[in-house]
Amino acid sequence: MQIILGITGGVAAYKSAELARLLVNQGHRVRCILTEAGARFITPLTLSSLTGEPCYGANPDQGEWRANPSIEHIELARWAELVAVVPATANILGKAANGLASDLLSTVLLATRAPVLWAPAMNTGMWEHPAVQANLARLRSFGHAVVEPGAGILACGEEGAGKLAEIAVIAEAIQIHAAPKLRSLAGRRVVITSGPTREDLDPVRLLTNRSTGSMGVELARAFRDAGASVQLVLGGDLPAPWGIETIRVRSAEQMLAACQACWADADGLVAAAAVADQRPEQTAAEKAKKGEGSETLVLVRTPDILATLAAARRPDQWVIGFAAESEHHLEHAAAKLKKKGLDAVLVNDVQAGRAFGPQANTLTPITPQGAHHPLGPLPKDQLARAVVQWWDQRLEAMDSGR
Ligand SMILES: Cc1cc2nc3c(=O)[nH]c(=O)nc-3n(C[C@H](O)[C@H](O)[C@H](O)COP(=O)(O)O)c2cc1C
Repeated sequence: MQIILGITGGVAAYKSAELARLLVNQGHRVRCILTEAGARFITPLTLSSLTGEPCYGANPDQGEWRANPSIEHIELARWAELVAVVPATANILGKAANGLASDLLSTVLLATRAPVLWAPAMNTGMWEHPAVQANLARLRSFGHAVVEPGAGILACGEEGAGKLAEIAVIAEAIQIHAAPKLRSLAGRRVVITSGPTREDLDPVRLLTNRSTGSMGVELARAFRDAGASVQLVLGGDLPAPWGIETIRVRSAEQMLAACQACWADADGLVAAAAVADQRPEQTAAEKAKKGEGSETLVLVRTPDILATLAAARRPDQWVIGFAAESEHHLEHAAAKLKKKGLDAVLVNDVQAGRAFGPQANTLTPITPQGAHHPLGPLPKDQLARAVVQWWDQRLEAMDSGR
């Protein structure tokens, strides 16, 4: 993707160099525009060295404007497939919200038809000022995306909101624009369950499993990037991905309740969570004392989330399940597909700890038509994109068959 990276006059400008390099490493072309104040914090040479592209200054007599500077702003505005302003000062937010075009960056922002993404950074008092918040609301009303700043110790020594978001989070927000939108998924609502469930025995002990939730989180990202509006129902401790409504749950019962609250408005479900089949019959309010000799733990069944949602679905809703099997994978998965009336089951081979954690994995899709060619082995982010592409093709085929 062709990205214009606007860099304005805040101390966090030094972090834009890291972002520029990350984006170039991800295969993007990046051209930087420095404002006059931005150029006091970071040099054009740093940015052009990292990007291999010219770095533009605020005016034609600064930076690397070309032969015909009078129309450079229009060329850049057309060249851009995304304009990201990182860090964004209160000043540039105010200018862009009000249509001012007093230097190259503000002019490109006004002239471009590309999506615009802001990562503001400023002192807490500035950030909380109603003028800044009103400007942000206005920019959002234009369809611009905002990666909100976090809280922390700021360059001014104060502690509070206004710290530039993590560079990895900003890169993720940019990535959403780079991925091609898929017709079958764009604008669709998809519920994704992920991670382990935790069934408490007492305040310190619990029953859980080896799932980390990484596959479901990567699937949530891949569906989001394809244009879907994703609701992620997440067990475990992984951080919520940017741009995804994440509902945190602990037990199987909480996961079911969260899914049921979303299901009526959803177009599809991807059930990637590793849900406990049993929970302790009793959860002790106080830490249980050790007894003499052997003890018996009575377990009862947890609700079957996938079967419950599949049974309650409308004909236009689709359901994908996961099967983690250590033997006879395909037979067990085909039986699960049939019993629960699913559209597809993605089969993991969990022998020897494969499938859990961040390493590469393989998934074999099973549909009512039989087993499909395995996807992978791939790292989980790429595997998730392969699943989404495969499912998009199935949806397109199902659609044309109707
Ligand atoms: C040392 C220093 C740090 C600054 N940091 C910020 C900041 O983090 N955020 C901000 O909105 N303005 C900050 N400012 C103020 C801006 O640099 C000033 O508003 C400038 O006019 C912004 O111009 P620009 O938006 O064209 O880059 C800072 C100023 C100085 C001198």
